[in-house]
Amino acid sequence: MSHFRPVALEHASRLLNHGPTILITSRDDEIDRRNIMAAAWSMPVEFSPPRIAIVVDKSAWSRELILRSGMFGIVVPGVAATNWSYAVGSVTGRDEDKFNCYGIPAIAGPVLGLPVVEEKCLAWMECRLLPPTAALEKYDTLFGEVVSAAADERAFINGRWHFDDDQLNTLHHLGGGTFVTSGKILTAGAGK
Ligand SMILES: Cc1cc2nc3c(=O)[nH]c(=O)nc-3n(C[C@H](O)[C@H](O)[C@H](O)COP(=O)(O)O)c2cc1C
Repeated sequence: MSHFRPVALEHASRLLNHGPTILITSRDDEIDRRNIMAAAWSMPVEFSPPRIAIVVDKSAWSRELILRSGMFGIVVPGVAATNWSYAVGSVTGRDEDKFNCYGIPAIAGPVLGLPVVEEKCLAWMECRLLPPTAALEKYDTLFGEVVSAAADERAFINGRWHFDDDQLNTLHHLGGGTFVTSGKILTAGAGK
C-alpha cells in the first residue's frame, strides 16, 4: 500500500527547502527512453506559481532529455534509497536504462507521465521546464514549474517534514558517496 498522498502545490517548495539530495528523472518519447540521475543542487525559487531550480551539468544525458521534452521529475530519496542515489549519480544512462539496471521501480506521474519513484523514497514532483533563456547556454541551472507533487504521509504531514523515524529521513550529500540524514527538529519559540 502506498503511503504517498498529493501535496498542495503551494507547499511544494517545502519538499526541497531543507536541501535534500534529489533524483532527477526524465523521459523522451521520441527515442522511447527514460533516465534518472542524482543531484545535490536544487532549490525553490518562487512560491506562486511554485517554481524550482535544479543544476544539471551540460555533460549529463539527463540534460538532453529534459531540453528535448521540456519537462523533468524530482524524487526525494529516503535512507533506504542511499545506494540507488549514489549509483544513479555515478554512471550515465546514455547506454543503459538505470531504472532496470538497479531495479528502481518507477510509476508514471499523473500530469506529465514522468517516471517517479515511491519505493524507498519520500516525495516526488513533476515539473514543466520554463522557456529557454539566454542563460541556458551559459549556465547549468534549469528552472521548472511544479505541476504535481506527492509525499509520504508518514514523513510529510500538514505541509511540513516530520523526521520522527530515522528511516523516513532525507539524504544530504557530503561528497564521495557520503551522506548525512536530517538532524533533530528544533522549534523556535518567542523571546531572545
Ligand atoms: C549524490 C550526488 C549528487 C550529485 N549532484 C549533482 C548535481 O547537483 N548536478 C549535476 O549536474 N550532477 C550531479 N551529480 C552527478 C550526476 O548525477 C552524474 O553525472 C550522472 O551520472 C548523470 O547521469 P546522466 O548522464 O544519466 O544524466 C551528483 C552525483 C551524486 C552521486
